[in-house]
Amino acid sequence: MTRGTVPGTLLGTVLGAVLGAVLGAVTLATLAAIAVTATVGFGQPREATVPAVAAQLESPLVVTPDIVAGGKKLFRRHCAECHGPLGTGLRDAADLTGREVQDRRDGELFWYVTNGNPGTRMPSFSRLPEQQRWQLVAFVRTLRRAGP
Ligand code: HEC
Repeated sequence: MTRGTVPGTLLGTVLGAVLGAVLGAVTLATLAAIAVTATVGFGQPREATVPAVAAQLESPLVVTPDIVAGGKKLFRRHCAECHGPLGTGLRDAADLTGREVQDRRDGELFWYVTNGNPGTRMPSFSRLPEQQRWQLVAFVRTLRRAGP
């Protein structure tokens, strides 16, 4: 062993440790970023911020059996693929029959249908005429299940 090798090895060890620490930190940061992305990622159910004014919106429709029947047709066409024909929810789409949704005001449901929930799979239906969106709300109301 010559004199030069000892410091050389030492330097290598020190460099290795520093590099290891840096790489470790980078990996941790990457993992953290992935975890955050996964938490707020697409398709994850999460609460949309429904503005307070939305709750004040009142349906302009007088809800008759015809209006509900029309809403049901629209629901089958536009919503059932995700929420199921009975609104109980398929995959990650919300169960529309339970308290959480049914306790919302009509205006809030209308807002939800109009705007969707960006960052989830709930799309915006602003392209549908307002009357049809209110008909959908009227139909969703009939899905309320008894009990909690
Ligand atoms: C491509 C799938 C998809 C389609 C189509 C879809 N939804 Fe949704 N919907 C979702 C998902 C996913 C959520 C849950 C997102 C969330 O938690 O905000 C949701 C949430 C909702 C909510 C919110 C429940 C709440 O108060 O938290 C309502 C109301 C709703 N959908 C109604 C409808 C209606 C009415 C239609 C048809 C006009 C429709 N959805 C079509 C996927 C869909």
